[in-house]
Amino acid sequence: MYTVNTASEIAERIYEFWIRAPQVARNARAGQFLILRIDEQGERIPLTISAVNGDAVRVVFMAVGKTTQHLATLKAGDALADVVGPLGKPSEIENFGTACVVGGGAGIACLPIIARELKEAGNHVIGIIGARNAGLLILEDEMREICDELFITTDDGSKGFHGYAADVLKRELDHRTIDRVWIIGPAIMMKVTSAATVPYGVKTFVSLNPIMVDGTGMCGSCRVTVGGETKFACVDGPEFDAHQVDFVELMQRQRIYTDQEKAAVERFAE
Ligand code: FES
Repeated sequence: MYTVNTASEIAERIYEFWIRAPQVARNARAGQFLILRIDEQGERIPLTISAVNGDAVRVVFMAVGKTTQHLATLKAGDALADVVGPLGKPSEIENFGTACVVGGGAGIACLPIIARELKEAGNHVIGIIGARNAGLLILEDEMREICDELFITTDDGSKGFHGYAADVLKRELDHRTIDRVWIIGPAIMMKVTSAATVPYGVKTFVSLNPIMVDGTGMCGSCRVTVGGETKFACVDGPEFDAHQVDFVELMQRQRIYTDQEKAAVERFAE
């Protein structure tokens, strides 16, 4: 029985769920994800594990498609049909020295578990979190508590630095040594922000979010190209060397079902 312990909207259309899933919680590591289904006939939704507490895991999602809009209607006490995980490879964490985690929009939700493990491994951890505006910024207090330093950016300047996470990352790389960088957010944000670390030769990871179906390497829907090779994000990732990722292909493949998704959302709204 996978019960939703708490469900809340933490920013416009961004929801935080704590779900009771003891086996997933017991084994979850930073960087891994789970796949849940609302009911037996439901679509499988891959979500990065954002935090673990006892026998519960936290996931954060944006209600954009039909299934995530449906998920957003669940309340504390409701049950899910199943939760499978943890899936994917954990983040490669060790004591690098100084590590920086960068999150954009709902992607910020993937950072706390990574930042915490980096901190526990002995790193000095810098956080950079950005959103379109102050109202869409999530988990600021939690990130401030975990990270040694936290920088905020907003596209419209309503909070923190007026601009993009890439600008702050570049500024920090200009005046100090950063040994590893994680960047998680929309594909375009990961593409642009990871380009900032190339001139500095800093190994950078991104967590890819292609369309997934089975999550076990069987269906091929999560195919991505990394370093010229085909990889399956669900079993070979979801984290990859950012400088090797073919982001243009990733973005094209993410749009494959746009028309079907739009039609499903319209039917759901009826
Ligand atoms: Fe099917 Fe990765 S989701 S192979």
